[in-house]
Amino acid sequence: MTKVLVATEKPFAKAAVDGIRKIVEEAGFELALLEKYTDHNDLIKAVADVDALIVRSDKVTKEVVDAAKNLKIVVRAGAGYDNLDLAACSAKGVVAMNTPGQNSNAVAELAIGMMIYMARNQFQPVSGTEIAGKKIGIHAYGNVGKLVAKYGKGFGMEVFAFDPFVDKAVIENDGVKPVGSIEELYSTCDYVSLHIPANEKTKKSIGYDLLSKMPQGATLVNTARKEVIDEDGLKKVLEERPDFKYATDIMADCHAELVEKFQGRVFATPKKMGAQTKEANVNAGLAAARQIVAYIKNGDTTFQVNK
Ligand code: 3PG
Repeated sequence: MTKVLVATEKPFAKAAVDGIRKIVEEAGFELALLEKYTDHNDLIKAVADVDALIVRSDKVTKEVVDAAKNLKIVVRAGAGYDNLDLAACSAKGVVAMNTPGQNSNAVAELAIGMMIYMARNQFQPVSGTEIAGKKIGIHAYGNVGKLVAKYGKGFGMEVFAFDPFVDKAVIENDGVKPVGSIEELYSTCDYVSLHIPANEKTKKSIGYDLLSKMPQGATLVNTARKEVIDEDGLKKVLEERPDFKYATDIMADCHAELVEKFQGRVFATPKKMGAQTKEANVNAGLAAARQIVAYIKNGDTTFQVNK
C-alpha cells in the first residue's frame, strides 16, 4: 500500500492532520506521522519505507532522500523550499513540490503584527508611534508581499514595492508604488518587510549598505529567512543607529548578542511562527496531501519545483 509520511518537527494543528488523513485514506493510501522529532536521524529512519513525504521546514537532505528507497514525491507544505535538497531529489527521480500561497495570509498578518509591536516599543508602557501615515516597502511582491501591501494600505500606510520579477503595472494596479531599485526601496521606507526566498543570490544580501540607507526611526521586519541577512552588517547598523529596529520570525544566529546589546530594538519569535495558524496548517497540509494523491494517481506535476 502507498505510504505517506507527515514529518513535522513543528507539528500541524490537529485539524490539518485530520484533514490530511481523510484525503490520504480516501485515496486508499496509508498515513504515518512523525511529529516533534528532535533528531534528524529519526527522520532518516522514518522514511525507509515511504512512498510520499509531507514536510514543513524539516530538512530533506541527501541522506533522507537516499534512505527513502521507495520515495516518489516530497511536498513542502509551504512556500520556501530551501530545506529540500532538490539535486538529491532529481538524482533519485523524486518529484519535489511546494504549496505556494497556502500559508501566505498567516505570514502577512504576523508581519503587520510585528510592525505594530515594534512601533509600540514591544508593548512597554512608554510612548510609541503609529504605523498609519508611514511608508512601508515590500521587498518581493509575491503571495505574502501582496497581502502585506494590502493590509499596510488598510492601516493607512503609503506602500512601495520592489520586485524585478513582477511587472510594474501589476504592482501599480494594486495601488502600490513600484520603485526602480532595491536601494530606492530601503532609502524611502520607514518599514521594510522582507519576502525574498533564500537562495544563492539572496543569501546575506541584506546588510549594512541597504539598512544604513533607511530613514530615521526605521524598522526591518523579516518573516522570510534568516539566511538573507548579513548579520555583521545588521549588527553594525544597530550599533551606529540607536533609532534602528529589527523584528524577525527567524532568530538570527547572533540573536542573544543582539538582544543584550540593543535592548528594546530587536525582537524574534521563539520559533518560526509565521505560518503557525490552524488556517494555514489546514490550507498547506491539505494542499500537500491532494498534490500527492494527484501525482501518484494521475501523474499531475503542477507545483513541481525540480522540473
Ligand atoms: C514557508 O516557507 O512556507 C514558511 O516559511 C513557513 O514555514 P513553516 O512551515 O516551517 O512554518
